[in-house]
Amino acid sequence: MKEFSKQDSKLLEDIMLHRRDVRGNRFLDKAIDPSSLEKILFAAVNAPSVGFSQPWEFVVITDKARKNAIKDNFDQSKSSEKKLFSEQQQAQYSQLKLEGIHEAPVNIAVFYKPSEEPVLGQSCMQEVGPYSVVCAVQNMWLMARALNIGLGWVSILNPENVKKILSAPQENQLIAYLCLGYVDYFYDTPELERKQWNKRKSLESLIYKDSY
Ligand SMILES: Cc1cc2nc3c(=O)[nH]c(=O)nc-3n(C[C@H](O)[C@H](O)[C@H](O)COP(=O)(O)O)c2cc1C
Repeated sequence: MKEFSKQDSKLLEDIMLHRRDVRGNRFLDKAIDPSSLEKILFAAVNAPSVGFSQPWEFVVITDKARKNAIKDNFDQSKSSEKKLFSEQQQAQYSQLKLEGIHEAPVNIAVFYKPSEEPVLGQSCMQEVGPYSVVCAVQNMWLMARALNIGLGWVSILNPENVKKILSAPQENQLIAYLCLGYVDYFYDTPELERKQWNKRKSLESLIYKDSY
């Protein structure tokens, strides 16, 4: 059995605390080396999954035409989302850079592929299938950070449209659209906090003892 030291747990904490969502204004025009990309995908497929179903598939995108189509989808989705906010927030929202589709050398679309067979542990809560894929995404995010590679999650997209652009099978569900690349800088705190869009909640405000 492998045992970890205090130093190891401190290192994991450091990676977690210094992981950031990275947008296009931070990505450098520098290719990701294949061995690093492989490490990130290897981290993904070692995530936990319900019934060990491993219900994930990945589309690695570098093609400009596909990126263009995804960016158009993002622009349309961003204009629709903007309307949900107050007038004052809309002005701030427009200023936010919320993707890095073109600037990031590699984009990865992460899909949930539902099993055709019953999955151990999934019958009561179907969502645990997609949750397993989210675990894979978090593994990718942490491994990317450990390799000093930035990763940004873009969810301001019409998923059915993304599926069409990528010729995804009908049954697959888009879970995440990720932009990856080397960066000029990792901030110590979330950009949305720095830009005063939101604040971090205190731990005490979130924990209940025995019941609500
Ligand atoms: C499910 C999910 C979807 C997200 N979608 C977007 C997005 O569309 N655009 C964006 O700029 N950031 C997106 N983010 C990043 C969050 O804004 C970011 O995680 C949050 O502000 C905290 O910052 P940090 O990740 O740097 O700690 C997403 C994050 C998650 C977990």
